[in-house]
Amino acid sequence: RTHTSPVRYIQSSSRPRLPPLAFAFDIDGVLLRGPHTIPAARRALDMLNGVNPMGVTIPFILLTNGGGLGEEARRHKLSSQLGVEIHSNQIVQAHTILKSVVHKYADKPVLVLGGRNDEIRKVAEDYGFKHAYTTLDVLAWKPEVWPFHNLTPEERASVKPADFSGIPISAIFVFHDPRNWSLDIQVILDVIRSRGIVGGPYLDPSPTSNQQSLPPVELVLCNPDLLWKSDFPQPRLGQGAFREAFQAVYQAVVGARYPCVQYGKPTKATYEFAESVLRDRLEEFSGDRVDEMPRVYMIADNPESDIAGANAAGWPSVLVKTGVYDPSRGPPTHTPSYIAEDVEEAVRWAIEREM
Ligand code: G3P
Ligand code: MG
Repeated sequence: RTHTSPVRYIQSSSRPRLPPLAFAFDIDGVLLRGPHTIPAARRALDMLNGVNPMGVTIPFILLTNGGGLGEEARRHKLSSQLGVEIHSNQIVQAHTILKSVVHKYADKPVLVLGGRNDEIRKVAEDYGFKHAYTTLDVLAWKPEVWPFHNLTPEERASVKPADFSGIPISAIFVFHDPRNWSLDIQVILDVIRSRGIVGGPYLDPSPTSNQQSLPPVELVLCNPDLLWKSDFPQPRLGQGAFREAFQAVYQAVVGARYPCVQYGKPTKATYEFAESVLRDRLEEFSGDRVDEMPRVYMIADNPESDIAGANAAGWPSVLVKTGVYDPSRGPPTHTPSYIAEDVEEAVRWAIEREM
């Protein structure tokens, strides 16, 4: 595995020092638009690989609310899309943070949602979830769960046979953006209202139901994005929109929103997790402990997720105009350190500011 090691700053002391800055790049709307690479992205990453006034390599991570694949599979895709070698330990996706909590659920049955059925189960199992089920598994078990979707042959080939009448789901993890919102909302509603046993009696808070002893099912979401920028002229609905759709149904049916755990940008948990990933990356680069972090520049397209999170984390940020943010609709809802046309201008501005 080749990886570019930086031309290190050598001071009078023998210990090498890293450049005074590092970067955290958002992906959708900054580096990619759907499957297409934004042309400025390759030029920006060249600047980090030594094409800069000091001729040094500047470390970076990718910090995205996207996901659906494991970090190793995603890194191969991103390396070819971006034309630079990306390493799996440089990628923080919406669900990467679940690696830090999986130990609490490793032996418990969980429901995992988002992306393609077989892919998201593999991501969950690779993280350590030993009993990961999908909404298509539930539909394959009892098609009457949701009469309006017939499994395609490809979907049927990806299901894990199970009898859910005896499988108490302990938690629901929305890893990535769900594909079949109606089926997913129906199954989540059944799991939550029956406290884990799909098809079991609803146990909404009512003094009479004797199964109150069953603990409530945890609902964990990994990406709060209401909107995101793909390769359509207007932004697309993201996982945050799915959450709102579910909560609206739950409110209408049960009378209140359901408490949930939310990860993803701009949450503090995700920025703290990303900073620990970047610190590990810096220590790999410098070959030594990193006592003082360099200034981390967040390069991003979505004020509500990227800039809000960077501001709260104390990271300087650059908002680009190639994604969700549309300057024609007025100033951004969260103020960045700088607004740039694209990621190349953003990186150049940050380097000139620090070097
Ligand atoms: O599903 C992806 C989308 O919500 C945002 O991705 O890379 O802009 O954080 P990104
Ligand atoms: Mg984005």
